[in-house]
Amino acid sequence: MHILVIGGAGYIGSHVVKALLKNGMDVTVFDNLSSGDRINYFQGAEYIEDDILNIPALEKALSNNIDAVIHLAAKKAVGESMEKPELYAVNNICGAINILNAMSKFGVKNLIFSSSAAVYGIPEYVPMDENHPINPISFYGFTKSDMEKYFEWYDALKGIKFVSLRYFNAVGYDEDGDVKGLDKNPQNLLPIVMETAKGIRSQMSIFGNDYDTPDGTCIRDYIHVTDLADAHVRAVKYLSDGGKSQKINLGTEKGVSVLEMVTRAEKLIGKKINFSFAPRRAGDPPILLSSAHKAKEVLGWSAGNSSDIDNIILSTWKVYNL
Ligand code: UFG
Repeated sequence: MHILVIGGAGYIGSHVVKALLKNGMDVTVFDNLSSGDRINYFQGAEYIEDDILNIPALEKALSNNIDAVIHLAAKKAVGESMEKPELYAVNNICGAINILNAMSKFGVKNLIFSSSAAVYGIPEYVPMDENHPINPISFYGFTKSDMEKYFEWYDALKGIKFVSLRYFNAVGYDEDGDVKGLDKNPQNLLPIVMETAKGIRSQMSIFGNDYDTPDGTCIRDYIHVTDLADAHVRAVKYLSDGGKSQKINLGTEKGVSVLEMVTRAEKLIGKKINFSFAPRRAGDPPILLSSAHKAKEVLGWSAGNSSDIDNIILSTWKVYNL
């Protein structure tokens, strides 16, 4: 099987490429290196350095006997999306439409998409299952839910089947050390904790300590990127076996608060992390917690030991010290 991984040199993409190659698939990566890095290039994969907004380049990539597309090339910072919606609208929504049109043109019928827990907005109940109402409170989350709607229409009108994987919080790094590129200019919690522990940053902020949660800070469901990558391989196989379109949460059903993450990291790493409480960040729901039921039922997937929070912290710390 020949898989086109759009965004395959990025943080999640490079882990997905490794998993696909390990499963004997042929891989072509299409990436503009805006957040990805050449250091993530895997031997055995082909690389095209280009942008999803460049339609001729995308069409050329899709014309090369592709069996399935994995689309991970989206802008992904919640805070930034609230300040620069135009960037997110063009890259995420127009980019996805370009991919769908190119797939239609060349008869590529299977699509795996990196969606997000951010589509749900403020939970009406937890853990959230896939039937939870979709009410994103960040523009980033809106772009993901909007893209899912395009996929539904292109399924109905063009027969493109999709699996939309709604990731909860992706963290960690390949534990074999094969993926070396650290996220450039990270805006997510764990890399910022790591950079603060390393002294790359002198301090960090915890955004909001007045949420309605046990310690007042936000709760998230952290999932190891190696576990996420495995779900993509399963989703490719599911669609190639004739599976119908699906939206599937990827999470652990376990919540960790921001304060717990910071204090646990201090303890495990043995370093003081200089943090202070700051106002809430726009677009942050107080809690995101995934039901893991459907992923198990449809893909036979559940989070492994990699997603244990101590392992997540320690394996990430290891990569920051390579
Ligand atoms: N946080 C801080 N300080 C920081 C950074 C983050 O307190 O310096 C807090 C946030 O306010 C939030 C929690 O840590 O409460 C997690 O924030 P992240 O930015 O790490 O991730 P999000 O919860 O915003 O996750 C969203 C989507 C995910 C997606 C992720 C990728 O919901 O699906 O962005 O950016 F994977």
